Amino acid sequence: MAAKKLTTEEILARARAQVGSGSGSTPSADDTSSAPEPAADSPAAESEAAEPAASPSEGTPAAAGKKTPASTADILAMARAQKKGGAAAKPAAASAEKPAASAKPAGAGKTPTSTSDILARARAQAKGGAAPAAAKPAAAAAKPAAKKPAAAGAAGERPTVAEMVKAVRSDAPAPAAKPAGPVTPPLPSRRPPVVQKKEPQQSRRGFLRSTVGLLASPFAAAWILFSGATMAATLGLARYMMPNVLVEPPTTFKIGPPGDYPPGVVSTKWKAQFGIWVVQTVYEGENIIYALSTVCTHLGCTPNWLEGEQKFKCPCHGSGFYINGINFEGPAPRPLERYGIRLAEDGMLEVNKSVKFQQELGQWEDAASFVSVV
Ligand code: FES
Repeated sequence: MAAKKLTTEEILARARAQVGSGSGSTPSADDTSSAPEPAADSPAAESEAAEPAASPSEGTPAAAGKKTPASTADILAMARAQKKGGAAAKPAAASAEKPAASAKPAGAGKTPTSTSDILARARAQAKGGAAPAAAKPAAAAAKPAAKKPAAAGAAGERPTVAEMVKAVRSDAPAPAAKPAGPVTPPLPSRRPPVVQKKEPQQSRRGFLRSTVGLLASPFAAAWILFSGATMAATLGLARYMMPNVLVEPPTTFKIGPPGDYPPGVVSTKWKAQFGIWVVQTVYEGENIIYALSTVCTHLGCTPNWLEGEQKFKCPCHGSGFYINGINFEGPAPRPLERYGIRLAEDGMLEVNKSVKFQQELGQWEDAASFVSVV
């Protein structure tokens, strides 16, 4: 017949019941006033009975006689004792030598079992009856005081499952620190070091040599010729597009008051600027001022006034003209021409080169060709 699977609560309750009732030889609550008597059927009871007297702080017979329910640690101790072979005397002896041994099995060098293992063993124990009950009293006598002093302070208070599990876990030794292995030196980087290329510095002489060599190459010469021809063509086109502008002097201008031109004197003051001679002379019994052209009537050369000879002499072909402009020698076919002249409102003589007066045409008689001087 398959055994019913027990829950944790049931296992703990049965274990506590075994601890409380034990094998019938554990100290009862009524015996708390007297010295604890070891169980008759447990060889370890003697050592357990002596332990409370030796260490009152860990647990007294009075505390144990209050029927404090066994903790999970007690249950674990019993289970481990059973695992060792059921020898009830061994855990008792261990507890006699070292009272805390029952509370901390791991301190004796044993590998701590997990809670699941402990529960499995407790269930097996519950199924197998009260066989290990003989070992319980010994463990139960020392457990309550050693493991749960706070809980034992409250007489008759039942610890919760959480407290018991916490107590079991607190008994588990801390995992051993991982031994520090030999320090592995860092591996060298496989990446080769970056070598920065040093830019070659070109000296001045090298630069000049390379420049001259470049300019002396046929390609450079052809390029220079092509650039020069293109530039010249561009400049020629621009000059062709620009019109020729002839800047001429004005045709009407003032030459000053009549007093600046004395009688019998040829003024060459405006020869270069306006191309005229200003002369005051007596013409037909009247002092007049007129403006003669400096253009030879032969081929257009410019004659010179010869003060010593009192004549205009053309340097080109030798034509000669009197002071009044009438030709008398050389190839000149006709007299010099006169320009229009008048006395302006401001008293200044004003010459107008746009008007010409020719003697052979009888134009010198025109009043616009001279100014009378009083
Ligand atoms: Fe004056 Fe010929 S141009 S003489």
